[in-house]
Amino acid sequence: MTITLTDQERQHLIQLANEIRRNAYVPYSNYRVGAALRSISGRIFTGVNVESAAYPTTMCAERTAVFKAVSEGEREFDAIAVVTDNGGSPCGSCRQVLAEFGLDIVVLIADGEGKLHHEMTLSELLPEAFTPRHLPG
Ligand code: THU
Repeated sequence: MTITLTDQERQHLIQLANEIRRNAYVPYSNYRVGAALRSISGRIFTGVNVESAAYPTTMCAERTAVFKAVSEGEREFDAIAVVTDNGGSPCGSCRQVLAEFGLDIVVLIADGEGKLHHEMTLSELLPEAFTPRHLPG
């Protein structure tokens, strides 16, 4: 079920995602991305992008947050904020990884001033998603 966030909750997630951007490791793109992912238990996991000299091995902020959370035992999420300088949107790989854990997750896309550019669900961001329910067994 998709939740409705209060303005305070939105601002809190965006602020955490924005602040954590200072830890982004971006020597190649200089494009800082921060994410703040909330589990249904209320815990919030942040993530940043971590680049690599072998470019394709770079990891995005959103997936860093998901992997941190899942590593800590969380599998159900209701919201994520993603902050970049210019309100950039989550890449396809991050959409797919988030979809693994729920199409109802609310995605807040904001910029470095804290301005919300888009608010939508994962199912809106990734229509007709391939998910675990497509696999037999
Ligand atoms: N990036 C993210 O962290 N998340 C996305 O969803 C899009 C792209 C990062 C990867 C790379 O470090 C930089 O942004 C430029 O592509």
